[in-house]
Amino acid sequence: MLETSIDAIINKEILTKENLVRLLSSSEEESAVIFKKAAEVKAKYVGRKVYFRGLIEYSNRCKKNCFYCGVRAGNTQTGRYELTDDEVLEAAKFAWENKYASLVIQSGERNDKAFIKKIGGLLQSIKQLSGGKLGITLSMGEQTEETYRYWYDCGAHRYLLRIETSSRELFEKLHPHNALHCYDRRLEALYSLRKSGYQVGTGVMMGLPFQTIENLADDLMFFKDFDIDMVGMGPYIEHEHTPLYKYSDLLLSRTERFNLSMKMVALLRIIMKDINIAATTAMQTLDPQGREKAILYGANVIMPNLTPLKYREDYMLYADKPGITEDPEDSRAYLESRIKMIGETIGYNEWGDSKHFAARNINQTD
Ligand code: 5AD
Ligand code: SF4
Repeated sequence: MLETSIDAIINKEILTKENLVRLLSSSEEESAVIFKKAAEVKAKYVGRKVYFRGLIEYSNRCKKNCFYCGVRAGNTQTGRYELTDDEVLEAAKFAWENKYASLVIQSGERNDKAFIKKIGGLLQSIKQLSGGKLGITLSMGEQTEETYRYWYDCGAHRYLLRIETSSRELFEKLHPHNALHCYDRRLEALYSLRKSGYQVGTGVMMGLPFQTIENLADDLMFFKDFDIDMVGMGPYIEHEHTPLYKYSDLLLSRTERFNLSMKMVALLRIIMKDINIAATTAMQTLDPQGREKAILYGANVIMPNLTPLKYREDYMLYADKPGITEDPEDSRAYLESRIKMIGETIGYNEWGDSKHFAARNINQTD
């Protein structure tokens, strides 16, 4: 009987928060129904295709102190690095030569003029190196609208800024209480990104201490209400040298956190049919096949790591982050074979922009 009720919910035109709570609470058997539906929606609306974005972890210098993150300023037990221009351009060249078509450049948060200028220059050089053809996503935290516009003018066209949790109350439990860590500012930054012309991505962590299933249903509603173009979300994974570590005994098991993450991906695909959804590294941390599973259940973007190997150990957002010793060439070959094995194709030489973004802009100019 339960089976039919899940079937009935999943095929509704609009899913309410209550529906989402019910679906997120589904058993393993019931989840299979959700995954099947998500796979159908994916095939119909965005195709069985995966886009590669070469990931460059530019720097782990960060002025913030998020309670969950190993890169936080207060963690004195990690070395700090910043890639040289040559290293960035080398990685960009690898992406370009391997037909990745897009890069994601991610960094700890800094707002000083030198940093802003440096990123602007790098964006211009990357564009130059590829005859303007390499697409660039930035993920560099909260910045002023002026900075967002400047980087857009330099060549970035997508931006990822996770809300981390859409619950203000939970957000405040996960961050220090000061102007640097402010829920309203995070929201404002997302609006500034939208105004500046970017395809806007956000995301959350799943399985955080104190987080409820209702919070996660609200996160899905948040993505929908904000009309987001892309989502990158992943399970929370504890890191020993962070303040949140002391709540580790409140956590769901790693398997439960992984399963919850897969359900979130599938439900997001069902409610936002034409957005881009990333299969993230944190999913791979909890299950070696985590990214492939996420792709089967709705994700359509993957970010192979191009950060020079010598820096990888220092970009430890959480414990056991995989790929510390995996060089870009091996990772490309491995991912290519895995993706083919699950029956999907790779969108080589295609930007793979969010179809949702394109549709919204056509509607607006009509
Ligand atoms: N577990 C999982 N994800 C994390 N992030 C930071 N710390 C952790 C953690 N302990 C994610 C956050 C952030 C991104 C850079 O990494 O969502 O936005
Ligand atoms: Fe810095 Fe981002 Fe980590 Fe927060 S989550 S401490 S902003 S790198």
